[in-house]
Amino acid sequence: MHILRGGGVVGVPTETVYGLGADAFQPMAVARVFEAKGRPLIDPLIVHLPEEGWVDRVVSYSSHGQKELANRLARAFWPGPLTLLLPRRKALPELVTAGSNQVAVRVTSHPLFQELLLRLGSPMAAPSANRFGSISPTSAQDVQIELGNKISLVLDGGPCRHGLESTIVAVEEDHLAILRPGPITEDQLIEIGHVLAQRPGVHNPGNRPGHYAPKKELQIIKTDIKSVLSGSKKQGLLAFTPPSAEVADCYAKVEILSRDGSLREAAANFYGALRRLDLSDVDIIVAKSLPCEGIGTAIMDRLRRAEHGSKHGTGGGPATSRE
Ligand code: TXA
Ligand code: MG
Repeated sequence: MHILRGGGVVGVPTETVYGLGADAFQPMAVARVFEAKGRPLIDPLIVHLPEEGWVDRVVSYSSHGQKELANRLARAFWPGPLTLLLPRRKALPELVTAGSNQVAVRVTSHPLFQELLLRLGSPMAAPSANRFGSISPTSAQDVQIELGNKISLVLDGGPCRHGLESTIVAVEEDHLAILRPGPITEDQLIEIGHVLAQRPGVHNPGNRPGHYAPKKELQIIKTDIKSVLSGSKKQGLLAFTPPSAEVADCYAKVEILSRDGSLREAAANFYGALRRLDLSDVDIIVAKSLPCEGIGTAIMDRLRRAEHGSKHGTGGGPATSRE
């Protein structure tokens, strides 16, 4: 606790991925988060709360309708993996939102993180605890590997339940817009309010194509796993469900996301499996595409970014790191 009170940064467990957190009301502490992550100051941070009652500390609603809609979402999905984009309260340091008058907030369901926030008595600003551009960590060990030399403490809260970053939703007076797909799916949000189709060309959070990239080249395949095998490069397979022995034999390393085809389980295992393949001695990671339904939409979103980032040199290597 004294690290946080003194303006330090710590690795924190959440139900989605591990975060790199600091007291949101200490601008110097928030600056250290950007520094440790190597993240540009123009890219805002999510503010984490232990309970819904704290929202007013950082948000100032612009209309009654917006507040009503946000309350309905909060009742349905908080604490949990949903981040709401709402008007920022002036008291919140501008650095947190990178100068924007909108703040991204969420109430975490992780008991250890909730307890930390309550004891600190202040909201915490936290991005995912990876170096800018690389894979989000889903265990305390992953955070150590990513940022161990930059931060003094990682709270170990076990493996992350969801394994993918929260769904981010902009809340307007009478509608929602999904800015980043995640564990709370579009079908779940439609139950609560009118969901607008995404406007093309708008810069959305986490939507630079190079995000979430491994250092190795990654290629998504849609059809028969075997058909892409060629050349002498050592290939690793990221499979949704167990491949046949014949197919598995063609790969130097195989990671299976779910034994029984559960997309939730696949999401929880996704970053860990990708990280293991990335750290192994394979030259290329071949990823079988997953069904684009439910949380599968969010997994495919991250896979496509990983593919783009790995091909365009935006992977997490020291020289080229991005968020
Ligand atoms: O599950 C999660 O959301 C994890 C855990 C740690 O809470 N956090 C996370 O943070 O994924 P980060 O910073 O890696 O991704 C959040 C995205 C970023 O792309 C950022 O640009 C966007 O949300 N964002 C944050 N605040 C914003 C704001 N005020 N306006 C627009 N975009 C915002
Ligand atoms: Mg991130």
